[in-house]
Amino acid sequence: MFYKLIYEGKSKRIYVKNADELLMEFKDEVTAGDGAIKASASGKGYLCAVVSAHLFKVVEDAGVKTHLIEYDGSRTLTVKKLKMVPIEVIVRNFSYGSLLKRMPLYRELEPLVPPLVEFHYKDDSLHDPLILSEDILRAGVLSVRDLSRVTELSILVNHALSRYFKSVGLKLVDIKLEFGYDQTGDLVLADEISGDTLRALDEQGRHLDKEVFRKTKNIDVLLKAYRDLALRLGLNVEAGSTA
Ligand SMILES: Nc1ncnc2c1ncn2[C@@H]1O[C@H](COP(=O)(O)OP(=O)(O)OP(=O)(O)O)[C@@H](O)[C@H]1O
Ligand SMILES: [Mg+2]
Repeated sequence: MFYKLIYEGKSKRIYVKNADELLMEFKDEVTAGDGAIKASASGKGYLCAVVSAHLFKVVEDAGVKTHLIEYDGSRTLTVKKLKMVPIEVIVRNFSYGSLLKRMPLYRELEPLVPPLVEFHYKDDSLHDPLILSEDILRAGVLSVRDLSRVTELSILVNHALSRYFKSVGLKLVDIKLEFGYDQTGDLVLADEISGDTLRALDEQGRHLDKEVFRKTKNIDVLLKAYRDLALRLGLNVEAGSTA
């Protein structure tokens, strides 16, 4: 690739395509336990790219703007360059993971109705800490209006994806979202939507997401879960490109 690399994170490389567009290349590396466990799973980047592109379209169809511009079936998405909001929004439909650790009164997989919306400040050195909406406002990260827009969009995205997952027999447990501002000043859904950033259960309660890797540290188990997620979403990944 002959584009300028401007960022390399844990799971993606970002290149400049032109003044308004970025290339988001999904890596095969998988990390868990806050980066403590690292492995490479050949084809994982491709699977996350396919699923992300597909789910961004589902979100667009529900009327929420996303950064997706183009997807060519590889491990790379063309996206709109955004000014990112340094916050991760986690929307939870069922209690799981870090929620159970910080609030043990929830039972595992207890339905959360309406969904619980959490904000985390994006800072690896602080392990993306949970913050209050008041912190966001007082620290001037977002205005009152934009915080309520981010919240509203997160709920809409979660609703659209939950309904879609349900239609293919899956349960969306929780999902992590990121937003950014486009050139018109609109808030737009960014980053990725994949087994790395959501938890989904099938009818047997099997995880089709990164949870399987957190539990087993086994890349074959991870690849099977990610491939099964793509197949359940009707994506033709059996031939499997690792391009
Ligand atoms: N449309 C976009 N425009 C600009 N930056 C984006 C866009 N979408 C996602 N990003 C940013 O690109 C980076 C993607 O890299 P990756 O997810 O691998 O990072 P990471 O290691 O998880 O670190 P981070 O904590 O920053 O997400 C993230 O920092 C994300 O916020
Ligand atoms: Mg990230």
